[in-house]
Amino acid sequence: MTDTTGTPARKRLLIRTWGCQMNVYDSARMADVLAPLGYAPTESVEEADMVILNTCHIREKATEKVFSDLGRLREAKQARGGEMVIAVAGCVAQAEGAEITARAPWVDIVLGPQSYHRLPEMVARAARAAGAVIETEFPPEDKFDHLPETAAPQGVTAFLTIQEGCDKFCSFCVVPYTRGAEYSRPVAAILAEARRLVALGAREITLLGQNVNAFHGEGPDGRAWGLGRLVRSLAEVEGLARIRYTTSHPRDMDEDLIAAHAEVPALMPFLHLPVQSGSDRVLRMMNRGHTADDYLRLVERLRAARPDLALSTDIIAGHPGETEADHAATMALIRAVGFAQAFSFKYSARPGTPAATMAGQVEEAAKDARLAEIQALLREQQTAFNRSRAGMVADVLVTGPGRHPGQMAGRTPWLNPVHFEGPESLAGRIVPVKILAGHPNSLTGALAAPLHDQSRERDAA
Ligand code: SAH
Ligand code: SF4
Ligand code: F3S
Repeated sequence: MTDTTGTPARKRLLIRTWGCQMNVYDSARMADVLAPLGYAPTESVEEADMVILNTCHIREKATEKVFSDLGRLREAKQARGGEMVIAVAGCVAQAEGAEITARAPWVDIVLGPQSYHRLPEMVARAARAAGAVIETEFPPEDKFDHLPETAAPQGVTAFLTIQEGCDKFCSFCVVPYTRGAEYSRPVAAILAEARRLVALGAREITLLGQNVNAFHGEGPDGRAWGLGRLVRSLAEVEGLARIRYTTSHPRDMDEDLIAAHAEVPALMPFLHLPVQSGSDRVLRMMNRGHTADDYLRLVERLRAARPDLALSTDIIAGHPGETEADHAATMALIRAVGFAQAFSFKYSARPGTPAATMAGQVEEAAKDARLAEIQALLREQQTAFNRSRAGMVADVLVTGPGRHPGQMAGRTPWLNPVHFEGPESLAGRIVPVKILAGHPNSLTGALAAPLHDQSRERDAA
């Protein structure tokens, strides 16, 4: 691995990422861990000395993709005379480690989400081993303590994992099994990482966790801090203009976090708050621990704290036992809230979860029909929300060049992508943009003030 001068030989690393933002963050950290070994990123399979598939197990489709990708990688590896390290990471690796090595013996490394700090050692072991090297324990030590402090810049918008795992055990969900028990990082480590991200150019940080608002990390005072307290502290990090967090559980939305939405201007008025269903019967079967009415009252409190708060959610169509009446209750809840954005999924039975063996599995055709209705309504609401932005002047964080020459792209406080004409020098700044039109998935606008004064004013705010 080292040439005669002592510097690591240059190698190419390709990482493919599926699943949630947590996996996006983990992929970046795996690249950071492997950088000292001489691995630099590539997009090309032919060029890659190592390929990592960072996988997702949440629905059956996501899992299938991994195996089809592995088939293609086998050919690429053969074309290189076997000179390619293939690693499967993430939640499929955690859940199906043994099946992966049985079905795809050309895989060299299988590692769960809690083991990626061990990658360098695993790469070395794989070079010597005959079979695959597998690491899917939940090691008691904190992987975050073993990650390098140096990291490749993430850009203007960055992710920061503050919490991992889940103890909620919703009937349908694999996450408690793939990510393990809930764990919160200490506040000091989070603040240090936030400062590093800002030094590398981040202006917006999205705090990540499978249950991010269950965060209870140890504060500098030795007590457990909740997310609201953490957000207030992050808001004081110089140069950090915007804070977001995802994904939240309705049960963990406490008073202090709701108050932070009213009191911390850097906390953006957008909240992803999965509800899954609008039927109390189904919510009970799902083990969600709240009713539809609890959710609606929570939304009221949040909107009272921050009237311009935009809400997003996740909905599952066709959980076992769901009737047409339950589906109608979900449609009614969606109408009652009015979401700015949402994700909706057809229920997918996951091996090992309680819902997979429940009575009353719903027919595919009924699931399809219900999902189509849900998605039509959500699309309508999203378009209406985007159109309602027209005429406003919004503070836009400029993320980089747009698709067309002379065009820049950015995001509003409500997370809408915006395109407008402007110079590239605006990247990383927050500028006022007059919204001219709302489309189904984005907005178009125009700079609202002459360039010299507006960027300074907004940035000072
Ligand atoms: N921690 C988050 C969700 C993580 S999974 C939360 O508690 O809300 C992201 C979304 O995938 C879930 O909100 C759910 O809507 C969906 N999902 C999870 N398991 C699923 C399954 N078996 N079938 C269909 N959708 C599922
Ligand atoms: Fe899965 Fe429920 Fe935990 Fe979310 S809260 S990760 S849906 S078990
Ligand atoms: Fe998928 Fe694992 Fe995230 S199952 S959604 S990658 S936590």
